[in-house]
Amino acid sequence: MARSMTSPVSQVASPGRTDSARLRWRDSFLRVRGETERRAARLSTEDQIVQSMADASPTKWHRAHVTWFFETFLLKPHLQGYAIFDERFPFLFNSYYVAAGPRHARPQRGLITRPNADDVTAYRAHVDAAVTRLIETVAEADAPRVFEILEIGLHHEQQHQELLLTDIIHAFAQNPTDPAYDPDWQPPKAAAGPRGFVAVPQGIHAIGHEGKGFCFDNELPFHDELIANMRIARHLVTNAEWIAFIEAGGYATPSLWLSDGWTAVQTEGWQAPGYWRNKDGGWHTMTLAGVKPVDPAAPVLHVSYYEAEAFARFAGKHLPSEAEWEIAARAGLMADAYGTAWQWTRSAYLPYPGYRAAEGALGEYNGKFMVSQMVLRGSSLATPEGHERVSYRNFFYPPARWQFTGVRLAEFV
Ligand SMILES: [Fe+2]
Repeated sequence: MARSMTSPVSQVASPGRTDSARLRWRDSFLRVRGETERRAARLSTEDQIVQSMADASPTKWHRAHVTWFFETFLLKPHLQGYAIFDERFPFLFNSYYVAAGPRHARPQRGLITRPNADDVTAYRAHVDAAVTRLIETVAEADAPRVFEILEIGLHHEQQHQELLLTDIIHAFAQNPTDPAYDPDWQPPKAAAGPRGFVAVPQGIHAIGHEGKGFCFDNELPFHDELIANMRIARHLVTNAEWIAFIEAGGYATPSLWLSDGWTAVQTEGWQAPGYWRNKDGGWHTMTLAGVKPVDPAAPVLHVSYYEAEAFARFAGKHLPSEAEWEIAARAGLMADAYGTAWQWTRSAYLPYPGYRAAEGALGEYNGKFMVSQMVLRGSSLATPEGHERVSYRNFFYPPARWQFTGVRLAEFV
């Protein structure tokens, strides 16, 4: 069938471009898959089994689940003659895709000692070979859809690369021997320069993903938002500022807290950010390099939305909305917007005006979570290189604090 020269299909399908596109996709695929294994390689077989809480998953499960994603959404529908690696695996490694079939209970992922880590390594190799074969042989007419699903799978795997680290840190923090994921890991240096607040352009501005390049469906549609007369902090809240909050009785002052936040403080016994412990007369915290003294100048990490909100109230400030954050980021107003800590916003995770989730199982990726969670913006020290975007919307429940989450303040004028 003849196609218009201007259609996206014909752009991918023209001979020279298809070959170079195939090479690019194969390189990207192998690079992302390799990064997962590089992150897992520091962990022993025993490390890879443990599930330290219901929200966290074992490393072995992450390695298998991202592989299941390619097998289920890419290989089964698009690689003719593809043989499932193991018929038992879809039940074990489906996360939350109801349309993709039944699945193992999330809190019991740590009980799956078999398949063992070597079995998962073999599963990964099987799927890697099949995806590579698909990239090299897919019919030109099918190439756009195949590469589209492949790209979602790569960004999905990158999300799990970050979770792999946050989940193992949580497990290590429960271990009295204080294991270190990477003894040589160094924290990112917080940006220097003048502190304080900077005015965000007031008025109507567009946010969301525009133009070319990948985005998740929750970043669409590109749409207008109204920005009030406000200013945003150039820097992230530091550990020194957080220690002042603690020493001023922040965790013991109910008037600073949302009702649900105060309940969490009491039921969880929070007296400091996640992983903080008082040792030898000073605060220490679990890091990727093991337990280290808290650096007063570094941005605070592992705080929940409730804590971020209470701190903002204590400081006489507010949290920015996600639109305020994005307009400030587009204007280059903030230091450490990316690469240190996901920054809580005061925005509930809701659909943008006109958003509709896609049909089918992949439509479950984001849309069905748009209730009861808060948006975080930026990226963290654990986010894989190249994964961050100005329109990226991360989201977690308000009490969550095992991610690399921090705080940027805002004020209204
Ligand atoms: Fe997933």
